Amino acid sequence: MVSSQQSHAVTPLFDRLWQTYSAMNPQAGAIHSLLLSRGEQIVNDHVAFRTFADERVGIDVLAAPFLELGYRPAESYRFEKKKLDARHFEHPDLSLPKVFISELRWRECSPVLQQIVSGLLDQVPERADGQPELCASGRPWNVTFREVTTLADESEYAGWMAAFGFCANHFTVLVNALETVSSLQELNQLIQLAGFPLNQEGGEIKGSPGEFLEQSSTLAPPVSVPFTDGEFPIPGCYYEFARRYPLPDGRLFSGFVTNSADKIFQSTDRRG
Ligand code: NI
Repeated sequence: MVSSQQSHAVTPLFDRLWQTYSAMNPQAGAIHSLLLSRGEQIVNDHVAFRTFADERVGIDVLAAPFLELGYRPAESYRFEKKKLDARHFEHPDLSLPKVFISELRWRECSPVLQQIVSGLLDQVPERADGQPELCASGRPWNVTFREVTTLADESEYAGWMAAFGFCANHFTVLVNALETVSSLQELNQLIQLAGFPLNQEGGEIKGSPGEFLEQSSTLAPPVSVPFTDGEFPIPGCYYEFARRYPLPDGRLFSGFVTNSADKIFQSTDRRG
């Protein structure tokens, strides 16, 4: 259905994204190695990105290179309380990860938040042809830790976005493809035994076989980030695990469950 050329074209972008992501989130590399040492081959269910709803950096801008690589828009999602919209994209080669992109409707937030975000977006340079993809370009703005804290007090999502900019927020292990682990429960146990705490918000496992998707995730460990007023630790990226179930027609469910994703977003919340 799809030429292997197309699939090969996608790989370098995901490799670059993984390198930045795993450098920022060593637990992902450690869990990856743990699974590899059991003889597993890891299949990525999806890679997730965050952004602000804006014509300069919104979902469409982040999605453009994926569309060029053969990805197609699939479903849309809305998260009322968090003021987020999201879309997911699929490749005809179903062995490639889905791409999940969310954006904050920041113009619906407080005047203070709007003012800070507007100041960040005004620093985003215009993109020229041939520039690396926005989704892998890192943080294009200067921001103070104080601004990040002000944003995070209203929207943890906005705070994270201001601090880290454009990178993969998480990769996701597809549990179905694991051969030595038969359930998400079993994988969760393995991961916790290895010393990685899981996000317990809304229960350790979000979703159910009845919703055709079960998910869990680690808690994002703090990373030290340079800001214009100093270097401070804040929660970075997390690793996610998903088990999908077949629909009545036999196809594996390929969408996302809004209620579950809502809780998963909280894996990057500041704690304590
Ligand atoms: Ni996810």
